[in-house]
Amino acid sequence: MVLEYPVDLIQELHMNYQQLGSHGPQVSAIGLGTMGMSDMYGPADRAESIATIHAALDRGVTLLDTGDFYGMGHNEMLLGEALKGRNREKVQLSVKFGALRGPGPGEFHGYDSRPAAVRNFIAYSLKRLGVEYIDIYRPSRLDPNVPIEDTIGAIADLIKQGYVRYVGLSEVGAKTIRRAQALHPIADLQIEYSLISRDIEREILPTCRELGIGITAYGVLSRGLISGHWQTNSDKGDFRSRAPRFQGANLDTNLALVERLRAVANAIGVSVAQVAIAWVIARAATQQASLVPLIGARRRDRLDESLGALAVRLSPEQVREIEQAVPPDAAAGQRYPEAQLAHMDSERRQ
Ligand SMILES: NC(=O)c1ccc[n+]([C@@H]2O[C@H](COP(=O)([O-])OP(=O)(O)OC[C@H]3O[C@@H](n4cnc5c(N)ncnc54)[C@H](OP(=O)(O)O)[C@@H]3O)[C@@H](O)[C@H]2O)c1
Repeated sequence: MVLEYPVDLIQELHMNYQQLGSHGPQVSAIGLGTMGMSDMYGPADRAESIATIHAALDRGVTLLDTGDFYGMGHNEMLLGEALKGRNREKVQLSVKFGALRGPGPGEFHGYDSRPAAVRNFIAYSLKRLGVEYIDIYRPSRLDPNVPIEDTIGAIADLIKQGYVRYVGLSEVGAKTIRRAQALHPIADLQIEYSLISRDIEREILPTCRELGIGITAYGVLSRGLISGHWQTNSDKGDFRSRAPRFQGANLDTNLALVERLRAVANAIGVSVAQVAIAWVIARAATQQASLVPLIGARRRDRLDESLGALAVRLSPEQVREIEQAVPPDAAAGQRYPEAQLAHMDSERRQ
């Protein structure tokens, strides 16, 4: 019988730490992304969210990722509350800024990464988080109206003033990465990477490797789609109900891939989510990338399942079997709705 997740392995788990790229801080081998505790994936239980953050810290996770626009500040306030009484110096806070929101549900109005806006955004973030500095500060998307040098220059000024420690990027392509790095060393690029989102392997990942820039990979479970828990009737009308991969015939094709992955996971004796996360870790190693997966767990049981992936050592043969079950480009549908892809510098051929 295959365990839902190997509790015994989790209890024995020793968290590893690594430097994020050549220019970044020392971080845990897996980070926790807290977005889903405030936004995008439907209602979340506040007490369970805080308990999940505490459990992550207790298990050695030190990298926590948020965005000032996740729940319009809700996510930062939640993190601030969870961090009360904890040792701030042992945590690396990664914060994204720049997305412009409105009061309506799912209302977005582009991006603002002008230097004055950056200073305004961070003033609010520091207050909401209840901290004196942010470890890694990054524009969530490239603002098409502002040269990347201006935005990076503004963050570099914040570093000189002690409000920020490192510069990060998010969902930008190779050309922008090079321009940013020419101005200031970049700790990491945050970008989607999973068994069914492998585009970065072509140009973006090699560019980061060449420049010594780390990668914090999000969507390693493709927002739950390849977690092994998503079913045809799981749709609750959140972000995922508008995401192409979760719709109609695309969903059927993608869930059929998950069943193929489940067969491999069962043979290894781990869960689907664990094999998907372990594959990202194994693949990063073969590509010599400094990569840290960000896990989007909102509950302690999901967190434990995800962290169990750290105890999974995939052999080259097992990696081959996983890639046969889910070949590159096998997923049906794009990773974001068209309107959002249009904002993504990482999706442009550079
Ligand atoms: N830079 C960017 O553009 C960007 C974009 C998106 C996210 N991010 C960051 O990356 C973080 C992770 O992204 P993500 O939430 O899309 O990642 P993900 O790990 O692919 O998806 C997380 C969702 O998968 C479901 N899930 C099922 N089994 C799980 C398990 N064992 N462990 C964890 N989740 C499981 C959960 O949904 P249910 O709780 O509904 O079951 C959870 O909310 C975010 O929190 C955010 O900080 C960055």
